[in-house]
Formats: sequence, C-alpha cells, structure tokens
Amino acid sequence: MINAIDSMDGAGSLTVTTELNPERKDEVRVSIADTGHGIAREDMPKIFEPFYTTKPPGRGTGLGLSICYGIVAEHHGRIMVESQPDRGSIFRVCLPIRGSGEG
Ligand SMILES: Nc1ncnc2c1ncn2[C@@H]1O[C@H](COP(=O)(O)OP(=O)(O)OP(=O)(O)O)[C@@H](O)[C@H]1O
Ligand SMILES: [Mg+2]
Repeated sequence: MINAIDSMDGAGSLTVTTELNPERKDEVRVSIADTGHGIAREDMPKIFEPFYTTKPPGRGTGLGLSICYGIVAEHHGRIMVESQPDRGSIFRVCLPIRGSGEG
C-alpha cells in the first residue's frame, strides 16, 4: 500500500479488496490496486529482488517487496503483479485458508 501511494504522487485511488479467491476456493485473495505510474516491463523481473529500487537515493531501500515475498512464502502463499505503465498496478496476495498442519 505504501508503494501504491508512492506511485500516485498525491492523486489517484488505492483499492484494497479481500475475497475468497474466485479461481481457488482454498485461498483468500487480497488485492491492492492503484492508479499510479505503473511498472516498466523491464523492471518487472527485478522488483522482488532485495535492494532493487527505482526511487531516488534516500527514498527507497528496495527491501519492501522482497520482505513481503518472504513473509508470504513462509505462509505458503503467492504474490502476483500486473501493471500497465501510466495506468497503474495491482498486487495480489493469495494465502491458503489452511496452511500445512496449522489450524
Ligand atoms: N505499486 C507500485 N507502482 C509502481 N511501482 C512499484 C509499485 N510497487 C513496487 N514498485 C516498484 O518496485 C520497486 C521495488 O519496490 P520495493 O517496495 O521492494 O522497494 P522500494 O519501495 O523502492 O523501497 P522500500 O520499500 O524499501 O522503501 C519500487 O522501487 C518501484 O519501482
Ligand atoms: Mg516499497
């Protein structure tokens, strides 16, 4: 959500949706959509790498998404991203309703 806000430079909309994953009934899906500047196609493979940032020095460490990726993986989930430059981005986090052996 902080990335989404950063991408919009003060104007736009941030939409957070939680639902049963329409594609897999054993998962919940949290979607974070923004109407920001989007992600360049060449950056897409790198955004989950630690220390990869396109923000100016002093603004981003490039750790946010790599930490999110690790936390979601520990919970047996997945993160997916779709983005259109100048239109916005949507990050989807899918988490199993029951992790292996838990609950
Ligand atoms: N919602 C988004 N819209 C546009 N670009 C994004 C979005 N989310 C991530 N990015 C891109 O992915 C890069 C990596 O994101 P990440 O959260 O890992 O690091 P950061 O935001 O640059 O720094 P940090 O989160 O450590 O302060 C960002 O620098 C930006 O280029
Ligand atoms: Mg970030």
